[in-house]
Amino acid sequence: MNQIEFPARFLWGTTTAAHQVEGQNFNSDWWAWEQSPGRIRNGDSSRIACDWWGGGYRQDLDRAKNLGTNAHRMSIEWSRIEPREGEWDGAAVQTYRLMLEYLIELGMTPFVTLHHFSNPVWVAMNGGWENPAVIRSFSRFARRVTRELGEWCSHWITINEPNVYAYQGYSSGEWPPGVRDVRRAFRVMSNMVRAHAGAYYGIKDIQPNAQIGIAHHRRYFTPFDASSALDRLATYFRNRLFNELVLLALEQGYLPFPLGFSERLPEVRGTQDFVGVNYYFTDQVAFDPFNPGEIFGRAVNEPNSHELKASFSSAGTINPIGLERTLAELSRYRKPIYITENGVIDAGDHLQIKYLLSHLSSVGRAISSGAQVRGYFWWTLTDNFEWTEGYKPRFGLYAMDVVTQKRTPRPVTEVYAKIIRENGISEDMFKSYGRT
Ligand code: FCB
Repeated sequence: MNQIEFPARFLWGTTTAAHQVEGQNFNSDWWAWEQSPGRIRNGDSSRIACDWWGGGYRQDLDRAKNLGTNAHRMSIEWSRIEPREGEWDGAAVQTYRLMLEYLIELGMTPFVTLHHFSNPVWVAMNGGWENPAVIRSFSRFARRVTRELGEWCSHWITINEPNVYAYQGYSSGEWPPGVRDVRRAFRVMSNMVRAHAGAYYGIKDIQPNAQIGIAHHRRYFTPFDASSALDRLATYFRNRLFNELVLLALEQGYLPFPLGFSERLPEVRGTQDFVGVNYYFTDQVAFDPFNPGEIFGRAVNEPNSHELKASFSSAGTINPIGLERTLAELSRYRKPIYITENGVIDAGDHLQIKYLLSHLSSVGRAISSGAQVRGYFWWTLTDNFEWTEGYKPRFGLYAMDVVTQKRTPRPVTEVYAKIIRENGISEDMFKSYGRT
């Protein structure tokens, strides 16, 4: 008898994103962004990445299969399928078809993300996600993809992390298009909400049984000093702006301030068949009168792994309880939940193993308390191109040598495979590796 048991037919998977693994993604705004020196750590580039576009996906998916996973979340590149507005590239579609066919052949359920941070250059040149025209073009893309690939996929994630995309591209300006204006970030988020709804109806038109959601990035925020009213207030606002806005819009059908001025948007209401959640860290939030750009709050974290801080600049505090609470909060929507990303870097000290065990324990507890969690996807399968951080953060279950492309399983692979085999976690595993 396992200490933690998962439900029958639970989906176990890993997640990848096109630009981070495929390589040769030359028609995208991310590739253009990488060309300016100094933007990517160590001068790294996504040129080959994990060579999925060169065919490397087969061996990596074989690895995923050998772990015992029965699902995989991947994304497809808009810039490949529609390299110029209205022009569809049949060869690119065919490559994705082969990938999906291969997943099915391996017995894995595909989850396909339509937008994972990167855009066709023509979309970027046309004002990107600030221009409401993107709503129509994205919806048309979603329709087209469903027509072309719907035979092999019925779980769709329209957009990955609207909050992170808007923040990094339009507020911190570290990602393309490099804008630093929080008001423009909110405009982008509200266009993403509408584009998601457009894509939702486009997909459903063609595939009425499709299951569609968004992968919401959730951070769990706690006040630095719980007895300080100002810290609590700063925490409340951060949670509302970062975690809640998009969900509120989708579930209640209006644009909450500052996405809009409470305009009603009945057409977006109820356009999630499931809630996808990407959870990594907790932040402690302190009031900071000198930080109006972040609504008078500042994240202060206990670096519980020095290696983690050094490798991944947006790392917070590792806190599995944050995942449990997040799942409890999301349960109020009464929808199936998929953990569409969760993971940590390899810090050479079993950090990944402890992280996996403790976060899955949280998932198990949340399920016992009634959360309808249907699946868990580890970020990520092999080390890959981590945006502006290049190849430094090593989130993979498999290590990848960037020069030789050689993959080596990390110790966590055995633990993940055993959990999947047993569909649960035994007391022995906790004894061997500890709980946090
Ligand atoms: C998530 C992103 C993913 C990767 C991981 C580490 O926020 O969706 O592409 O960057 O973080």
